[in-house]
Amino acid sequence: MSKSKKNAIPIGNAIESEKISKTYISGEIEVQALKNLNFVVKNGERLVILGPSGSGKTTLLNLLGGITSPDEKEGSLSIFGDLIQNYNQKQLTNYRRERVGFIFQFFNLFPSLNALDNVIIGIDLLKKKLKSNLDTLEIATDYLEKVGLGERLFHYPSQLSGGEQQRVAIARALAKIPFVGRNFLLLCDEPTGNLDTETSDKILDLMIELNKNEGITCLIVTHNLYIAEKFSTKILKLKDGIIQQ
Ligand SMILES: Nc1ncnc2c1ncn2[C@@H]1O[C@H](COP(=O)(O)OP(=O)(O)O)[C@@H](O)[C@H]1O
Ligand SMILES: [Mg+2]
Repeated sequence: MSKSKKNAIPIGNAIESEKISKTYISGEIEVQALKNLNFVVKNGERLVILGPSGSGKTTLLNLLGGITSPDEKEGSLSIFGDLIQNYNQKQLTNYRRERVGFIFQFFNLFPSLNALDNVIIGIDLLKKKLKSNLDTLEIATDYLEKVGLGERLFHYPSQLSGGEQQRVAIARALAKIPFVGRNFLLLCDEPTGNLDTETSDKILDLMIELNKNEGITCLIVTHNLYIAEKFSTKILKLKDGIIQQ
């Protein structure tokens, strides 16, 4: 395969949502968190889901990440050409493992593991599951170098700055790609919400660079307009669970 082919982003849509809704029911109370969402995200795009608190951003991210399922009425949610709302629990688990990397506001690293082991633990299961011959140590080191942490492999989270911890989390999410390919969603919930402006800017630059180099599809949810404008190739505004035009 030629180099240009290898680097090509797959054509087509990563996500197609048609009339997707999500209702939470607790006791007598129903909250319709998402209402009839219609949208498309192309492969390789950087989508920002923008909206105030309570508008349904996290719910949408959880749907796309296979953490929750949409309402069963009408509608279809297709990711990389597969209808994920039809997945059973086992398929959802595989989907989360093989197609999704999550980045959260509070990094979610294991405090007792160094940077390298935090990345390795994210891909070790995948390697076993896929009976892959790839070298997890080599891949983990490679991705930590890609996020600029080649000199911090053996540091523990408590020895890293907030920005560095978020870089480890990004490396951990992306290190799945050599195993599973580029049909991959990087889903980020307020990924820089816990960082100062300068560090936040650097993380966004890094994510844009990785998006281009790795050819994957990235989604960030945020209420921050600046982040939306800097990061996105496409913006989806949510208010009260409805997409604003
Ligand atoms: N597990 C849940 N059970 C019931 N209601 C929920 C649950 N999660 C979120 N909600 C409600 O759904 C709406 C959207 O929440 P969320 O997706 O967290 O919004 P955002 O991330 O934009 O702040 C809110 O009204 C929230 O209270
Ligand atoms: Mg939220």
